[in-house]
Amino acid sequence: MEIFDTTTFIPPFALDIDLETGAMPDATNHLVRNASAMKGHYADSAAFDALVANGDPLHYEVFEKPVPEEYGHLMYCISKLQPGKVGDEFFMTKGHYHTVVQTGEIYLALAGEGFMLMKTQDGQFHYERMQRGRMVYVPPYWAHRSVNTGSEPLISFCVYPGDGGHNYGDIETEGFPGRVFEKNGEIVIE
Ligand SMILES: [Fe+2]
Repeated sequence: MEIFDTTTFIPPFALDIDLETGAMPDATNHLVRNASAMKGHYADSAAFDALVANGDPLHYEVFEKPVPEEYGHLMYCISKLQPGKVGDEFFMTKGHYHTVVQTGEIYLALAGEGFMLMKTQDGQFHYERMQRGRMVYVPPYWAHRSVNTGSEPLISFCVYPGDGGHNYGDIETEGFPGRVFEKNGEIVIE
């Protein structure tokens, strides 16, 4: 068998993921973002400052069992976004492009409900509903951010090419064209 000469050879493996809680055994990469990590991302900065001052609650976590971050491998993760609002705006992840911008990604929602917001650098905007069993295909070139509009954690499983990487910086300067609010008891994207 010929192996692509820049891709690390590893043996196959399997693992059990709890589809209700998203728990992934041996997830040695554990990214934790509390509310304070989201400074500048929400529309209501006074509500954001109050949330941080009032205990800086857990916002979201990403669990990964690492594989080589190389062409040919597939990174995979569990994303767990807590429910809540900053003012009227639902909790969301920072969002990112991939460092290799022509890198797509698949998200499969396992629990909770919300949206995947997507945008391109030239200003196109698109969103898809996320709920248990729904898969969202994020094509190459689209930045993506998830939003939890429910009362339970929004949990999803992701898969993307190993050499894709993450670019959060452009989102911090560009923001997203749409935000998700609760207004008069309705979910509104504007
Ligand atoms: Fe991604």
